[in-house]
Amino acid sequence: MKSILITGCNRGLGLGLVQRLTQIKNPPENIFATCRDVTKAQKLKEISEHCNNVHIIEFELTDTNNYEKLVKTVADKLGDGKLNVLFNSAGISTKFARIGNVKAEQLTECYFINTVVPIMLTKAFLPLLKKAAIGKKEFGIDRAAIINMSSILGSISENKTGGFYPYACSKSALNAATKSMSIDLENDGILVACLHPGWVKTDMGGNNAPLDVDTSVRDIIKTLQSLKKEHNGCFLQHDGTKLPW
Ligand SMILES: NC(=O)c1ccc[n+]([C@@H]2O[C@H](COP(=O)([O-])OP(=O)(O)OC[C@H]3O[C@@H](n4cnc5c(N)ncnc54)[C@H](OP(=O)(O)O)[C@@H]3O)[C@@H](O)[C@H]2O)c1
Repeated sequence: MKSILITGCNRGLGLGLVQRLTQIKNPPENIFATCRDVTKAQKLKEISEHCNNVHIIEFELTDTNNYEKLVKTVADKLGDGKLNVLFNSAGISTKFARIGNVKAEQLTECYFINTVVPIMLTKAFLPLLKKAAIGKKEFGIDRAAIINMSSILGSISENKTGGFYPYACSKSALNAATKSMSIDLENDGILVACLHPGWVKTDMGGNNAPLDVDTSVRDIIKTLQSLKKEHNGCFLQHDGTKLPW
């Protein structure tokens, strides 16, 4: 993969992915890392100061009317206008609540950031992804791929806890969108999959999570590198295990 854009890179898994991608053998020539406030992205800034393939883009993802501008910034930097991977990682969660405490605003906010944003961002970046896919035969990240960061909490068949309405519904919807994208974009040679990173120690995952960011992102990158046509439209765990919808 020569180029990747990752959202939500000032902390958590997005930051971990950027950091790890700069350390792998044959790192991408261009890693676009979005964050909505550079002043809160000290670690990311340090990485980009040492690695000239890391480009920080300050962008508020709910600002869907400005996606064209974001795409132009990326296209100009790429030169050939080919983006291999769009990795939708940014997301939000809300506190666990049973049906009696669920709030409409939390449902719509989660749906907007966890579902609407990845769908609309994918739509905006399609010309760059399609360009990258032209002339290559095998499906995979060296050609073109869209990776949506989902969660096991979005799996309907694995739901054993109840609750989590805003988060679980938004991730189930993202899974549904992933499947649709995989069908819509198959003829363009773009692979689409959703990933559960594991339960990871981040601001969202909390301190009780069993996985650290580095373990999760190492697995995720290995899994990305192994993606083939058979993975198109799949829901995968960080280590590549297929998950049930
Ligand atoms: N950690 C886990 O255990 C776990 C498990 C399953 C799935 N996931 C998924 O993995 C992804 C990353 O999670 P994480 O654990 O790294 O979470 P995190 O540490 O809370 O980081 C979330 C990231 O998303 C960004 N973000 C949120 N709303 C945004 C917006 N409107 N515009 C731009 N950026 C926005 C945040 O930026 P700010 O700093 O500006 O808010 C931050 O960079 C999420 O999609 C999450 O649902 C995580």
